[in-house]
Amino acid sequence: MFALTLAEALTLDERDDLAAFRQAFVIDDPELIYLDGNSLGRLPRATAALLSDMVTRQWGQRLIRSWNEGWFTLSQRIGGKLARLVGAQPDEVILADSTSVNLYKLTAAALQARPGRRKIVSDDLNFPSDLYIFQGALNHTGWLQIVPSPDGIHGPPTAALADALNENAALLSLSHTAFKSGYTYDMAAITEIAHAAGALTLWDLSHSVGAVPIDLNGSGVDLAVGCTYKYLNGGPGAPAFLYVRRDLQEQLRQPISGWFGQRNQFALGLHYEAGAGITRFLTGTPPLLSLAAVEPGVDLLVDAGISRLRAKSIQQTEYLIALWQAWLQPLGFSLNSPRDAAQRGSHVSLGHPEAARIDRALIEQMNVLPDFRRPDNLRLGIASLYTSFQDIYTAMTRLHHVVAEQLYEQYSPEMPDVT
Ligand SMILES: Cc1ncc(COP(=O)(O)O)c(C=O)c1O
Repeated sequence: MFALTLAEALTLDERDDLAAFRQAFVIDDPELIYLDGNSLGRLPRATAALLSDMVTRQWGQRLIRSWNEGWFTLSQRIGGKLARLVGAQPDEVILADSTSVNLYKLTAAALQARPGRRKIVSDDLNFPSDLYIFQGALNHTGWLQIVPSPDGIHGPPTAALADALNENAALLSLSHTAFKSGYTYDMAAITEIAHAAGALTLWDLSHSVGAVPIDLNGSGVDLAVGCTYKYLNGGPGAPAFLYVRRDLQEQLRQPISGWFGQRNQFALGLHYEAGAGITRFLTGTPPLLSLAAVEPGVDLLVDAGISRLRAKSIQQTEYLIALWQAWLQPLGFSLNSPRDAAQRGSHVSLGHPEAARIDRALIEQMNVLPDFRRPDNLRLGIASLYTSFQDIYTAMTRLHHVVAEQLYEQYSPEMPDVT
């Protein structure tokens, strides 16, 4: 139970043993409340300094020599650290490409590894781009079965997924935490069902990594991908990561066979021979500046520890939901995220028929940055490394003000390009 006062928010911040991590981020405007770290994480101070060194010294002075002074192995090195956040071994995770491209590579590899099976099973909570990628990888030679959520918030019943996982299913691929509602699957239980049906599993961790405990090894997961620019604070467009369980690495072939995935790359032979271990899932030259920028954010999360972060995140989403219930439910807001914290990631979606215009009013008049997802979701992301209880309290008072005073009415329902 929370007392819904500013004094209580300040007390919660005082008792927060992760509060000091906020100082590790660039926060120039103390009045701005940032609730979109689930879309683009904040800039760690260490990243600004690192990028300056990357540009002026590593690129400007060391030039091509930098490849042998750390650049060449950077994707693997950061992947090895990131492995600690997802319950994997250091040689099972590597940074490469975008989430979408990695998803394509691993989907194609999984289809090839299950000859005779041509179905991919997913759900309608999944990120649409993931579904597009599956359609592209199938290339009209198989089909995608999208199992529906009962209410647009929770994942489909386990029995419905189990039904879809018949003898034709090559792959089950789901977002661990759903981008709209924040619904979070029981990864181990669902993976077990897929395996019982003879299908491989590929989890998209984009909305859970860095916020929700993940145990890929303990859950027996085959494959996973995820993005680094959300809770990992890797920067806009930062390269993504992929995970392939160690015993599968030598069995799988990915379709975009480029020289970074080639065995003995600089022998420059004319025929492709897949490289050793996880490196065979690489393709071409990584964007070094963006790649390097991923490391400080990962270091901060490893320092904080995911279990401590998760405990704070649950307390904060519960706090936000208590404020919703007291102040916003009476004004017509619904809770579009699971009420049960065990099924929820680190963002909360509040539903309102005017959510799009409310979002604009918050951004343009109230110095609050959430985001909007169709049809009616105001998405409030809690990044517990830097989101304070005071942030949540103040954002909710401003949100209440926008709705109670109908300030959103002055905005047209037209949305900017990116919401
Ligand atoms: C769950 C999920 N998967 C995949 C993507 C796509 O990632 P990218 O555009 O970096 O390939 C996103 C982007 O937000 C996402 O939320």
